[in-house]
Amino acid sequence: MTKKVLLIIGGGIAAYKSLLLIRELARRGIETQVILTKGGAEFVTPLSAGALSGKTVFTDLWELDESADMGHIELSRSADLIVVAPATANLMSRAAHGVADDLATTTLLATDTRVLYAPAMNVRMWDAAATQRNVKTLRQDGALFIGPDVGEMACGEFGPGRMAEPDAIADAVQGALIGDMTLDGFRGEKPLAGRRAVVTAGPTREAIDPVRYISNHSSGLQGYAIAQALADQGAEVTLVSGPTALPAPHGVIRVDVESARDMLSAVEGALPSDIFVSVAAVADWRPATRHDRKAPKPKDGVPPLEMVENPDILATVCKSRSRPKLCIGFAAQTHDVIALARKKRERKGCDWIIANDVSGDVMGGQHNTVTVVTKDNEEAWTRADKRAVARRLAVKIGKAFDENAY
Ligand code: CTP
Repeated sequence: MTKKVLLIIGGGIAAYKSLLLIRELARRGIETQVILTKGGAEFVTPLSAGALSGKTVFTDLWELDESADMGHIELSRSADLIVVAPATANLMSRAAHGVADDLATTTLLATDTRVLYAPAMNVRMWDAAATQRNVKTLRQDGALFIGPDVGEMACGEFGPGRMAEPDAIADAVQGALIGDMTLDGFRGEKPLAGRRAVVTAGPTREAIDPVRYISNHSSGLQGYAIAQALADQGAEVTLVSGPTALPAPHGVIRVDVESARDMLSAVEGALPSDIFVSVAAVADWRPATRHDRKAPKPKDGVPPLEMVENPDILATVCKSRSRPKLCIGFAAQTHDVIALARKKRERKGCDWIIANDVSGDVMGGQHNTVTVVTKDNEEAWTRADKRAVARRLAVKIGKAFDENAY
């Protein structure tokens, strides 16, 4: 049977992306019925939303009760999922407090259908204590969230606040519809409740002197998304993070480190755990000497830079006495991706390795194309938003613990 989504378009500049979302959902065989808030109608017209969805667009509570056959209760009940995109700070605040003063909020209050929010707002508004409180309340009430993404916003600021891309929201919609959605509150199931997980993320920085260092382009996005997805599945997560621009995921303990050696100590300090996911792009080498003062420029030529090897955190954890039951590594490769990943899995002693081709836009980008290599299997996953990859991985981890199959 065709699945139906009730899409509430709030008043934000990202509303135009919700039109693309309608098209993307239609492409995936999902029907959309649109409610346009008063604010939403300032950004997109009922005509365009109606043309794309092929259905009448509802904008006003009273008009709906009188002219349409359907009241707001029926409207929400006829949907398999409600999506709020863009979910503005104001809309989420009203929903979190049970305010019902227009069609959108009345529908949200009256429904027992799952709700997926795709927040979009200025970074400061997202970070505001009140917004974070409202997000927490909505999560506790069983709502799902996708995004916001980190990036440059319409207002010129940089940070979390951009609405997730339409294809990522569509992935989340499909995940929720097939019962694979693992964001907080989904059906109240927490397959990883009572499990502990340690995740490393981001780059490491290897100091040359107090002002110079060697590092790499890792943004931390994939590791942070995995930490969030595991926490959403109920795990108690410690995220050991190298320097990134990302906010700590909800409900996750974050330990900030700089160098590979600091990262190893922090990981060892966070053990024992059931799960270890090593996503960090750890620098393989560090300068042999760290100068206490800024090293002056030599009169002639360039300074010599002697390097020594860093500890391999994943291999150390895999070989340690307190080895977590399930150890997962990443294999960043630019060629012979699967063959090298298989060898790397054996060399490091981990259970699964997630092979990814980093020759393209993976490092620093929003998407990832991965193959999960296990002892006797390989699963190639289609290119997806890093959050979708994280959720899928967390589901796989949950199942592995359920079935005792690592
Ligand atoms: N890793 C680690 N400590 C290191 C190097 C890597 O924990 N010093 C982990 C990474 O977090 C990842 C896995 O090992 O999970 C593989 O990392 P990758 O950079 O692909 O492999 P390398 O060991 O650096 O091998 P190579 O550079 O030869 O491909």
